Amino acid sequence: MRSWPPTRFRGGDTECVDTRSLRVAASGIPRKRSPPRPRTCDHVVVNSTRATETEAGYDAAAADYVDRTSTRSREAKAFLSRFVDLLSPNSLVLDVGSGSGTDARRFSEAGHHGFALDRSTKLLALSAGDLRLRADFCALPLVDSCADALWSHASLLHVESDALGATFDEWQRVVRPGGLVAFVTSLGGDSGWELAPASQRRVPEMVSGARRWFVHHESAELQKAMLQRGWVLMESSVRRSHRDWILAMARTPG
Ligand SMILES: C[S@@+](CC[C@H](N)C(=O)[O-])C[C@H]1O[C@@H](n2cnc3c(N)ncnc32)[C@H](O)[C@@H]1O
Repeated sequence: MRSWPPTRFRGGDTECVDTRSLRVAASGIPRKRSPPRPRTCDHVVVNSTRATETEAGYDAAAADYVDRTSTRSREAKAFLSRFVDLLSPNSLVLDVGSGSGTDARRFSEAGHHGFALDRSTKLLALSAGDLRLRADFCALPLVDSCADALWSHASLLHVESDALGATFDEWQRVVRPGGLVAFVTSLGGDSGWELAPASQRRVPEMVSGARRWFVHHESAELQKAMLQRGWVLMESSVRRSHRDWILAMARTPG
């Protein structure tokens, strides 16, 4: 029998955490059947300076980040509900760039299997779900077609424009044909380092200088990348706050 989770993943010069050390007691939510376990394969964590420094920024400010971001806008909540409504019963949903797994937990609460996946060990450690993995979502250590759907909330904004196509290819590879992909990401066509803001409550705990590399994509670039892969766009809208955000949902070719 295959053991889960694997004790160690290989990946270039990076050694990844043993996910067992991150696990906590199951949430206590009754499940209709055992959650599916996506099979893993060789693991790569992209080691660009920007990616590793961004990861360190999230690790340094993990508790503070959760404080500031665990609530969602009305539009984001409604978008997530529409996504959940389209899932088949007992779906395995990958939440890529999950942070502390806020959305993965919502998928599990809705009767599915939310799988939190993130580079930040510290954020994953704050996640309450029992399915989680430290990994890079641009090079997923998962076998083909292992998930029913993939969700990315505010994580594509850390992917360079020239890596967007390869990242979508990777997402399509792990989602079954005809599966759902949804993402929310900032728009703008600019990129750069941004300092992690601090919540009032935790300012004294903030590590000064924690910074993250952001890429605010262009709507046309995102749409083109989806259409090039034959994704069927189901909805796309823009929400305005301090920035514009696109909320897009598509089906991969069946
Ligand atoms: C802005 S946070 C969003 C977290 C969560 N989805 C939310 O909305 O609260 C971006 C998350 O993406 C993760 N991330 C960034 N690049 C990643 C990558 N290449 N692979 C995996 N996780 C990544 C970060 O560690 C961080 O947790």
